[in-house]
Amino acid sequence: MNNFNFKNPTKIIFGKGEIENLANEIPENAKVLLLYGGGSIKKNGIYNKVTAALNNFEVVEFGGIPANPEYAVLMEALKVIKTENITYLLAVGGGSVIDGTKFLSAAAVYNGDTPWDILTQNIRTEKGMPFGTVLTLPATGSEMNSGAVITREETKEKLAMGGPGLFPEFSILDPEVIKSIPKRQLANGLADSFTHVLEQYMTYPIDAKIQDRFAEGILQTLIEIAPTILNEEFDYKAASNFMWSCTMALNGLIQKGVPTDWAVHAMGHELTALYGIDHARTLAIITESHYKYNFESKKEKLAQYAERVWNITEGSIDDKAYEAIEKTTEFFKSIGINTKLSEYTSDYEGTAEEIAKRFTNRGWLGLGEHQSLSPEKVEKIVKMAY
Ligand code: NZQ
Ligand code: ZN
Repeated sequence: MNNFNFKNPTKIIFGKGEIENLANEIPENAKVLLLYGGGSIKKNGIYNKVTAALNNFEVVEFGGIPANPEYAVLMEALKVIKTENITYLLAVGGGSVIDGTKFLSAAAVYNGDTPWDILTQNIRTEKGMPFGTVLTLPATGSEMNSGAVITREETKEKLAMGGPGLFPEFSILDPEVIKSIPKRQLANGLADSFTHVLEQYMTYPIDAKIQDRFAEGILQTLIEIAPTILNEEFDYKAASNFMWSCTMALNGLIQKGVPTDWAVHAMGHELTALYGIDHARTLAIITESHYKYNFESKKEKLAQYAERVWNITEGSIDDKAYEAIEKTTEFFKSIGINTKLSEYTSDYEGTAEEIAKRFTNRGWLGLGEHQSLSPEKVEKIVKMAY
């Protein structure tokens, strides 16, 4: 196991009815900016619960943060923070609203002229404006981590940011919010959290037994509950397990002391930036070709995953590893997610070259657990995913 530090300061408040207790978590006298997305919270009752709980606070609202939070919209919210002298941010939404709020937490205390530099120059935020979240969509893990991904339509970019000052102070996880989530977004949540685990697990063996078992446990849980989650009827038990799996998949715990990959996400983000494909679906597009292309360096972990997660016990390491890749693709398909780029756009020619060019320009010359995935290799992987 590698050396590591681990600190995660986010307080999790989990369970049915917990939104009512929101006021206990926000400092008295705070002037709160309530941030939300396209309005789902107004239809499903979450908005009413949140505003009722904030009764005794001075609250300003900013709605309309789109999926794949857009820089231009967030800059409008930043103006509100400054003109209204906001002291506390509250994100009520999924990964997009929470990530947008993290950007604002950083931008509110940033001294430079152009907050976009936080993303392009990798400026880490040591202490941002304090914020909390009410999670409405299990998927990203953003509710308990310090990363964010921001989109800029003008330049068709989607870039990541973060820093120790960007953990939410608290996150309220009420599994009942899942009742109103459309099937497409539920499938996205399953695929995104599944891939988060794979990015931190599918590398090479390092004898980190507890991290491996945690990772395998999350994958097994997601596979087990997926059919119930996608069922028309809401099931609180499955919803609870789904929500906590998504948080645990990306709150930092399983990646401590182990090598991590994250190349699937790097390539996937470009597909969202270029074509607007849902984040989770871009991961399903890239995964199979990434694992096939990097088969030799990943096959031992692929075989372990085959045995422990998919119960594939027959055959050589190569056989098991190969079958595990097939099983992963089947899993994505079983939850209704297509795994080829051509199933999302007919305009895919040149995509691989464009992504390789972007990575070269950004100096991303060696991604993955061995820092050896060059733009030339990225180009081949994306082509295999057409
Ligand atoms: O905008 P509203 O009206 O709220 O509707 C949203 C949105 O249309 C809807 N929704 C959310 N909760 C709902 C609901 N609809 C009905 N009932 C509810 N309870 O779902 C749609 C998608 O929401 P979004 O927040 O975009 O989804 P998700 O949570 O999947 O977030 C995706 C974003 O997170 C980033 C992605 O790149 C993408 O921009 N990621 C963030 C990460 C992080 N911070 O750690 C890691 C991830 O790998 C990912 O990159
Ligand atoms: Zn993701």
